[in-house]
Amino acid sequence: MGNKLIITIDGPAGAGKSTVSKILAKNLDYVYLDTGALYRALAYNALKKKISVEDVSALANLCSTTTVVLKNIDGRMKVYVDGEDVEEKIRTEEVSMAASKISTYAVVREKLLNLQREAGAQGGIVAEGRDMGSVVFPNADYKFYLDAQLEERIKRRYKELLEKGAPVEYQSVQKDMLVRDKQDKERKVAPLIIPEGAVIIDSDNLTVQGVVEEITSYISIK
Ligand code: DC
Repeated sequence: MGNKLIITIDGPAGAGKSTVSKILAKNLDYVYLDTGALYRALAYNALKKKISVEDVSALANLCSTTTVVLKNIDGRMKVYVDGEDVEEKIRTEEVSMAASKISTYAVVREKLLNLQREAGAQGGIVAEGRDMGSVVFPNADYKFYLDAQLEERIKRRYKELLEKGAPVEYQSVQKDMLVRDKQDKERKVAPLIIPEGAVIIDSDNLTVQGVVEEITSYISIK
C-alpha cells in the first residue's frame, strides 16, 4: 500500500491541472480534490440567489448560511451545496469569472479552508488549485506548479468550452483569462504563487501523459 501522501498541484487556469490530477490520483489510487469546484459552487450559489459578487457583506452572509459538503464518489471529491449536486452547473464561463472574484475575499476562503484540510487529513490525496502548496497543505509531501504559456491556456479553455457546446468567442475567452490571471495572482489573500519547495512543470511541449509521467518521476511512495 505505501504511505498515503499529500500531493499538491497549483497553477493558473488552463494549465491542465484537473486532467493531470485526475489521472495521477487514479494511478496512485488516491482521492482527487478539485478545490476550484468549491469556489465555483459558492459562486454559483451567489449567482443563483442574485447576490452581487462585489457585495462582500451579502457574500459573508451567504457563506454563514450555506452548507458545503464534499463527498468521495469513486475517488473524486464531489461538491454539494445545500444538498444540491452542482457539478454540471459550475463549469460555465460566468461561474469561472464569479469564482475568481469571490475567491479574493478572506471570508470566502475561510469558509472553505477546513473543508479542504479535512479532505486531506488522512493523506492519499491529489489536491489541485491556486493555494494548495502555499496555504492549505504547506507541509504536503510533494508540491507541483503546473504552468503553460498564456496563448496555449487560452486555446485549451476555448476548445474545452466549444466541446461543451457553449456559445463562445475566442476573444472573450482571451479577455476572461487575462482578468482571471490578474485576479488570482494579485489578490491579497492566498494569491496564486509558486509554493516554496514546488517543482515547476511547463506543460507547453508535453502531452497530458507526458506531464503525468514527469510528475510521477518525482514521487516515491515508501
Ligand atoms: O481551478 P478553477 O478554474 O476551477 O478555479 C476557479 C476559480 O476559483 C479560480 O479562478 C480562482 C479560485 N480558486 C482559488 O482561489 N483557490 C483555489 N485553491 C482554487 C480555485
